[in-house]
Amino acid sequence: MLVQGKHYQTIWLNEKDSSFVSVIDQRALPHELKIIDIKSVDEAAYAIKEMVVRGAPLIGVTAAYGMYLATLEAGPDNCDSYINTAFQKLAATRPTAINLLWALNESKKVIEKTEDLENKRAAALQIANQIKADDIEMCRKIGVHGLEIIKKISGQKNGDTVNILTHCNAGWLACVDWGTATSSIYHAQKAGIKIHVWVDETRPRNQGASLTAFELGEQGINHTLISDNAGGHLMQHGKVDMVIVGSDRVTAAGDVANKIGTYLKALAAKDNNIPFYAAMPASTIDWTIKNGVKEIPIEERNQNEVKYISGKHNGEIKEVLICPENTPASNYGFDVTPSRLISGIITEKGIAEASEAGLKKLYS
Ligand code: MRU
Repeated sequence: MLVQGKHYQTIWLNEKDSSFVSVIDQRALPHELKIIDIKSVDEAAYAIKEMVVRGAPLIGVTAAYGMYLATLEAGPDNCDSYINTAFQKLAATRPTAINLLWALNESKKVIEKTEDLENKRAAALQIANQIKADDIEMCRKIGVHGLEIIKKISGQKNGDTVNILTHCNAGWLACVDWGTATSSIYHAQKAGIKIHVWVDETRPRNQGASLTAFELGEQGINHTLISDNAGGHLMQHGKVDMVIVGSDRVTAAGDVANKIGTYLKALAAKDNNIPFYAAMPASTIDWTIKNGVKEIPIEERNQNEVKYISGKHNGEIKEVLICPENTPASNYGFDVTPSRLISGIITEKGIAEASEAGLKKLYS
């Protein structure tokens, strides 16, 4: 999608030197568009863990390129053990988004079945490129299907503005291009539908404020930043027509893990009879589990992300403490929205009912 009118993706192989990839450093947004290079498996693991790149689909794609970089580092004598260690290192970076493990397994399968180190390197690059290309296409298709829902609501409102609430960043910055939740919004814009997006700031990392507000602004989408607690009030006053969020892991029974706070939005939406959709590609479905609350591992991050807030002051990025220095804090990264609160799951194959039968129907 666009940054200052120029088309970007979040990750790309260097055109002249295929021994490294470049990524947008999302820690610097919205204040600076900083590009950094990832040249080793350790740098790929660091980028995922420290949220240089983030968002379920993008960490999967980055991990696949990390495996390719591992094949470049491996020698003929230590290849298998080197690849296994790289797999473990990358898998340990973040626990909740299943796309990470999915992409690592896809890559490992291909590398293992290929003979000879040179061929393994070519195969690892090919699968990373493929995972990236597939992600772009899946996100595009998610938008095409999601557009139909927005179109219907717009029709019911006689063409009046459709107000969509979103949480965290499930935009192109969380994927490679298009985004999951935002893809439908970008397709609606192209279709000439009047839309306005309520953007949850999404404490503690503020992905809504720093990333979603940034990308919607660059794309010319009418939007308003709100504090995380404002959604319920807006819903009670008829100011939200639908909610669309992304997901980091969906169970085979349709429970959805997403950024912490998503569950509360779903409860408020249910109470106010507002459709609540989750959008994600197939790589986000974990077919091995059913009960999201019991079975999805929830990432706990450093408490300083809660205690400190960072922003721009007089042209400089500053981090400030917002509580007494010794206050204990906890930092759960994700929560699970049970399928009963979800109106539908927007996928690249169409819109599924949030249930085992609904998902199976699309992914037989
Ligand atoms: O911690 P993050 O920024 O990686 O969390 C991202 C989210 O929760 C997104 O909403 C999710 O990955 C949706 S996917 C586009």
